[in-house]
Amino acid sequence: MAIKTKKYRVPARVIHWTMALLVLSMLPIGTLMIREGLDRSLQNFLFIAHKNVGVLLLILIFARLAYRLLRPPVLDPVPLPPLQKFAAGITHVALYALLLIMPLAGYVRVRAGRFPIETLDALGLQSFVPRSDALAELAKATHFYGSYALGALVLMHIGAAAYHGVIRKDGILTRMWPPFGKQP
Ligand code: HEM
Repeated sequence: MAIKTKKYRVPARVIHWTMALLVLSMLPIGTLMIREGLDRSLQNFLFIAHKNVGVLLLILIFARLAYRLLRPPVLDPVPLPPLQKFAAGITHVALYALLLIMPLAGYVRVRAGRFPIETLDALGLQSFVPRSDALAELAKATHFYGSYALGALVLMHIGAAAYHGVIRKDGILTRMWPPFGKQP
């Protein structure tokens, strides 16, 4: 039988906060790096950072899903009004979906356009997608609209966390925070 814990386990919390930091930097970096008139060397640096951190995020979301499947969290349920519970469920599923879609679309956009992804190239990892302008354009549009959807969801998620942590003080925030420290 799985053991009940008061907090998420340390690996789940570490992955959560690492991803939170990286996603919160990827959204502004992605928006900034495509601005016209940006200094060329800064733009190159931001593109390289964005692509390679994006690949790291793709690995992290798979690690997170795998860990959740292998060691599902067993936490005391926090009583919530049904509508809030429903909204939280929908938001979390949509967040997981977009955290998969965004890096995948970014990867396809770059690889279908035959651009480099420096770390994968250094490791000798071939592209998993064929070269195709149409595919690159589709992935670009998905990445563009997905960034707004992800931005909106992240804001809602932060708002809900602040509401639980500061107003309701019901333990929902503190079962994910802090990232380290053993769970009682
Ligand atoms: C969770 C992960 C990611 C987030 C949150 C993210 C976010 C963004 C955002 C906000 C933009 C600006 C969108 C626009 O206005 O067009 C962007 C653009 C871009 N991203 Fe990402 N990204 C992620 C992962 C990736 C990955 C893994 C790659 C490639 C390996 C990538 C490659 C690109 C490229 C090439 C652009 C420029 C699009 C274009 O104009 O062609 N992204 N990203």
